[in-house]
Amino acid sequence: MHFQWYPGHMSKAKRMMQEDMKLIDVVIELVDARIPLSSKNPDIDELAKNKSRVILLNKYDLADPKYTDHWKAYFERQGYFVTLVNSKNGNGIRKVNEVVQQACKEKIERNRKRGILNRPLRAMVVGIPNVGKSTFINSIAGKAATKTGNKPGVTKGKQWIKINKNIDLLDTPGILWPKFEDQSVGLRLAFIGSLREEILNTFELSLELIKFLILNYKGNLANRYGVEESDDAVKTLSGIAEKRACRIKGGELDLNKAAGIVMDDFRNGRLGTITLEFPSVSDTEQTS
Ligand code: G4P
Repeated sequence: MHFQWYPGHMSKAKRMMQEDMKLIDVVIELVDARIPLSSKNPDIDELAKNKSRVILLNKYDLADPKYTDHWKAYFERQGYFVTLVNSKNGNGIRKVNEVVQQACKEKIERNRKRGILNRPLRAMVVGIPNVGKSTFINSIAGKAATKTGNKPGVTKGKQWIKINKNIDLLDTPGILWPKFEDQSVGLRLAFIGSLREEILNTFELSLELIKFLILNYKGNLANRYGVEESDDAVKTLSGIAEKRACRIKGGELDLNKAAGIVMDDFRNGRLGTITLEFPSVSDTEQTS
């Protein structure tokens, strides 16, 4: 399978983000805890240089906790301030305030020395599409606060959301498109549903996922579907189709339907908490 990415309005979004960067102190970057590197666009380092940096490992509810801790340590070693969040149910959201304060410690101290007290930090959320930016903003801001920024026509100029007395958040997140040459990065983005569906083949994608799961999460497919996990991914998928009674007219197995079920179950966490990329062995050694 070969993946390509069509950048669309990429350069315009990048220009807008450059402008927004001038207004803020701290960048809150969301990555997907299941693919923390593949969901990270390297352009942000250039765009956000001289800014305090926070990384949120979002959707940690879907990732393997063992590796999420390793990834947290990995980014911390690179100088980021990191915390885990589940923007959907709000877990970990309260901790974000604390991490932002830590990331901006020097700025707060500088201000204090100049006699500037209690000036809110200005923050901006960035991340690739579908990583959970809007869900996060809604979660941290509370429903009422975000609504004011969403009225069409009234949003001339920048809208800020007051998170608390310490943080003002720009209401529109910066969108970074995934950037990759490595096809395995494309594959991971496709697994989590971050590449446009129409350019993908669900059947082939599910076979790749099945291979990955059997290699790294043995037993998860058997648990979910009651199938025998075979080294032959098509055979495993056929087993799933049989168990789920996926058949086309005439009684033949409908593998495309079964493939859709597998991808949907994976993306919704029904195949277990799964991480798709792992810190390298040397990184893991340093953290354990
Ligand atoms: P974006 O602004 O970065 O493009 O992402 P958005 O907030 O629209 O979130 C994309 C999808 O990810 C949404 O699911 C959202 O509910 C889900 N999501 C966001 N954060 C988390 C999280 O921490 N954990 C989990 N499990 N899911 C999260 P959707 O299927 O598009 O919508 P919905 O059916 O959930 O409403």
